Amino acid sequence: MINKKVFSDTKNRLIKINILVVSSFLIIFSMFTFLYFRNITYNSIDRKLEEEYEYISMQINKTSYLNPIMLNDPRDLVYIYKGDRLIYYTKSEYFDNIVPQEVNNNNLFFTYKSGNYTFREFSLSIDNTRIRVIRNIDSELFSLKQLLSVISIGIAFSIVITYFIALYLTKKALKPVEDAWNTQAKFIQDASHELRTPITIVSSKLQSLLTVPQNTINDEIETIADAMNETRRLRKMIKDLLSLSKEDAVIKLNIEKINIKDILSELYRDYIDISEMQNKKLQLVINTKNNIIYSDKIKLRQLILIFLDNAFKYTKDNDSIKIGLEEKDNKIICFIEDSGIGISEKDLNHIFDRFFRSDNIRNQDIDGSGIGLSIAKMISINLNCKLIVKSKLNEGSRFEIIIPREINKK
Ligand SMILES: Nc1ncnc2c1ncn2[C@@H]1O[C@H](COP(=O)(O)OP(=O)(O)OP(=O)(O)O)[C@@H](O)[C@H]1O
Ligand SMILES: [Mg+2]
Repeated sequence: MINKKVFSDTKNRLIKINILVVSSFLIIFSMFTFLYFRNITYNSIDRKLEEEYEYISMQINKTSYLNPIMLNDPRDLVYIYKGDRLIYYTKSEYFDNIVPQEVNNNNLFFTYKSGNYTFREFSLSIDNTRIRVIRNIDSELFSLKQLLSVISIGIAFSIVITYFIALYLTKKALKPVEDAWNTQAKFIQDASHELRTPITIVSSKLQSLLTVPQNTINDEIETIADAMNETRRLRKMIKDLLSLSKEDAVIKLNIEKINIKDILSELYRDYIDISEMQNKKLQLVINTKNNIIYSDKIKLRQLILIFLDNAFKYTKDNDSIKIGLEEKDNKIICFIEDSGIGISEKDLNHIFDRFFRSDNIRNQDIDGSGIGLSIAKMISINLNCKLIVKSKLNEGSRFEIIIPREINKK
């Protein structure tokens, strides 16, 4: 499936980026650490060589072959020249008693290799006397090498750990996106499935008209009415789908001071005639003192209307419908109650799902597409409201909208 590939590609890309960023930081940091320690090591060797040089220069005039030069550090090798003549040198196992080769170099300090050994030399001539102080620095280099291997192992280990952490975090971060994507895909599948039914009916009705070209409109009035009913259903469904997708998106609320009692009274006036026509008893029950809230008036009205519409749809002759207000914990409870067909316990958990309709309602041929309550759910989330349903099959239903006095601005 396309989305599976998109997600696995994105996951891999994110993991790669994570590893790249972490490894670059680690490598740069380790490089600086290594260079810093290398610098410190060389500086300390050079300081010791210098000290040795000072110590030797102090002794140089008093020295005879019977009185050998004392060294600060017995590891140091010293070669003293008068002009071109070597006048003193320490015995060295490294050079097999051969004077180490001269390095033509203008630097005071320099490093060179002789055989398998590495040396650091400090060489300075003053008044025809040249002193070379040489030290084997293999142990220091060995420590630096060890530091380098520890750092390299550390980097490799950290990259492996980073890979697993990145894998976990990327999965976690992409989960909501993946879920939203799947919900959207399911929604499109369900919507197209639901839209197909009325379209099939309309096209089959039209086709049936083609088979009887001699008939008048009057003869086929029922078929035409059926087709028109379906187009009306189709139009309502498309309108509902649109409003659902609008609620789903980030919406801007128009918050204002509202008297909620006014909204209910208005709805009551709008529906009282319909209730009389349908032989139903509509009641308005206001049990609140303070009816002022701050919310989005149009959306709140739309929300209440969805429940009121259902109450009329799912009640029969002589049933009663009550709309009203109650107050609890500084919150307003707007309720819509009916003595209609009710909802079974099994269905109660699903009524807010998109396109859900109880089986008994589908069988009774009551118009609707099961989108109303999912729009209600979205609006209530946006308005910070809570929805509560109590219902018993064949006894009636009560829907409560718990409305905060003020919408929390996030
Ligand atoms: N007051 C009620 N009494 C009994 N059943 C109800 C009531 N309100 C909702 N239902 C059940 O919940 C289902 C979903 O309701 P919803 O309003 O989402 O869809 P609908 O009314 O079928 O279609 P529409 O999208 O046109 O509103 C209904 O089909 C019905 O089975
Ligand atoms: Mg409905």
